[in-house]
Parts: sequence; C-alpha cells; structure tokens
Amino acid sequence: MLIIIISLAMKTVIYVFSGTGNTKRIADLFAMELSKRNWVVTVHDIGKDIIMPESIDADTLIIAYPVHAFNCPLPVLDFLKKLPHAKVNTYLLQTSGEALKFNNAAAIRPINILKKKDYTVKGCFHFIMPYNIIFRHSDPMAARMWRAATIKTPAYVQKIIKGEEEIINVDSLSRAISGILSIEHPGARIIGKGYKADNSCIGCGKCAKDCPQENINMENGKPVFGSDCSICMRCVMNCPANAIHPSILNGWKVNGSYSFQGRVAEDSEICRYCRSSYLKYFKGVEKNQQSN
Ligand SMILES: Cc1cc2nc3c(=O)[nH]c(=O)nc-3n(C[C@H](O)[C@H](O)[C@H](O)COP(=O)(O)O)c2cc1C
Repeated sequence: MLIIIISLAMKTVIYVFSGTGNTKRIADLFAMELSKRNWVVTVHDIGKDIIMPESIDADTLIIAYPVHAFNCPLPVLDFLKKLPHAKVNTYLLQTSGEALKFNNAAAIRPINILKKKDYTVKGCFHFIMPYNIIFRHSDPMAARMWRAATIKTPAYVQKIIKGEEEIINVDSLSRAISGILSIEHPGARIIGKGYKADNSCIGCGKCAKDCPQENINMENGKPVFGSDCSICMRCVMNCPANAIHPSILNGWKVNGSYSFQGRVAEDSEICRYCRSSYLKYFKGVEKNQQSN
C-alpha cells in the first residue's frame, strides 16, 4: 500500500543556479512548501560538475536563477541547451536585487530554449532579494525581503500544484535593454580573468573549492582566476579575508553574507536607492497577505 502511495506522489525537480545563496534560499523554500503538500522534491545545483539528466522524471520542472544585467546567467542557458526534450510543466524562478520591470526580460531566453525542447512553460515567479553587487542592503532590509518571499511562496506553490500560469509581461524597451546587456555574457569571462586576491589572502582555498564554474585554481597558496567566470560573486562575497578584488567591479563589491533573521526594516528605513519600487513591492505582497 505504501508503495502505491509513493508512486502516486507528484514529483518536482528544481535546478538552481545561485551565486551567493539568495536563489538557493528561495528554491529551498519552494521545496519545503511543496513537500508540506506531499510532493516529492529534489533540488540540484547547476554548476560545472552537474550530471545532466537523461530524461525528466518529474511532473513539474523549476529552473531557478538570479538576474544578471537583466539577463539569465550563461551557465543556466548552457545547462538548458543540454536538457533532454520533455513535455513537462515548467516554471522559472528568478531573484533580483530590485523591482525593476527590465528584470522580467531575463526570462525570455530560458523560455525560448525550453519551448524549443517541448517544455510547457507556465510562467515565471519573481522575488526581490538583497544585492550581492553594487551595494549592501541592511540586514533588516534583507529580513523584510525574506518575509515577503515567505508570504508569496505558498500562493505560487498552489499555482504549481494546479498547473496554473504565472504570466510575465516583457515590454519592448525591456527586451531591447536586456538584448544590449547580454554583452555581460562574454564580458563576464574578461572581467573574471582580471579578479585578483590581495595580500590579505590567507590561502584558505574556499574560493577555489566553492566556485560553481570551477574557474579558480590555487597556485602557490593564492587563487588564480581563469576565463570561465560568470561573475556570480560567490568568491568575492564569501571570502573570509575580504581579499578578492573583482577587477572593474571592485567599487561595487559586497563581502559577507546577509542575515535574513532578526528585525524587519520599517518603511522609514527602506534604502533611499529605488525606495519607491521596494515599497511598492513590499506593500503589494503584504496587502495580499492581509486580504487572505
Ligand atoms: C553580475 C550581476 C548582475 C546583476 N544584475 C542585476 C540586474 O540586472 N537587476 C537586478 O535587480 N539585480 C541584479 N543583480 C543582483 C542579483 O540578481 C541578486 O542579488 C540576486 O538575488 C543574487 O542571487 P544569488 O545569491 O542566488 O546569486 C546582479 C548581480 C550580479 C552578481
């Protein structure tokens, strides 16, 4: 009897690319919410060492990634191109540092690749998470973003369960800007090659061990950066000695992980940068919670 119940359980497979953990955090939240509803969920990290599936043994597929320059990161596109053909309900899950409409355009290329392979793309769920580049949000801001994610996710999971669509609108300006900024893909390789560790490097090798692109080698106790970087910022953010200089992005570097727990930012504390779009995002999510 038990065997019959298990074989009837619905299955989701989540493939996630996450430079600094934000997207993985949301993917794990989806996994937890689906599991609560007795779905069987497996989560796989997209990285150089991923074993490509020969078939998609799931009722639903979720592809999760951070927005990079209004685009989907190249390792994710490369991964999607290698996926087998399958007729499976598929959702995208994006995170980005702010609530800009241009970010929606990051879904275009993944959708096109998936549709060519017969996947039934049902839409895209979008979450705002703290910036891992440009500037550092406060921990209370990160906590408010996380609270918004926990409010939004159960409704999205309900959509997945019912196979409902989550339409995203991408206007032509967003398409154009995203198209131009896809130069980030070849640019990342050049910028990444110029990363350097300064004298404060303690030679711990964490950057080399953790790089999803296997792009860092330790030579004479120091990291040497190759030409396969996707500027995911994992090495920069997680370096315990804050020793990595990300080339021309150095002025935008963020070091040290966020705490998502603890006090949640009040409206008055929301950073002045893009204040109105963050407020709109939070209020929209929190209003929905009150009306449920
Ligand atoms: C190279 C790069 C480009 C980014 N571009 C954008 C962007 O175009 N729009 C945006 O809102 N956030 C952008 N971000 C911020 C990330 O999308 C955001 O912090 C995300 O949650 C990081 O997810 P992760 O921790 O899973 O890597 C960018 C981050 C990086 C590293």
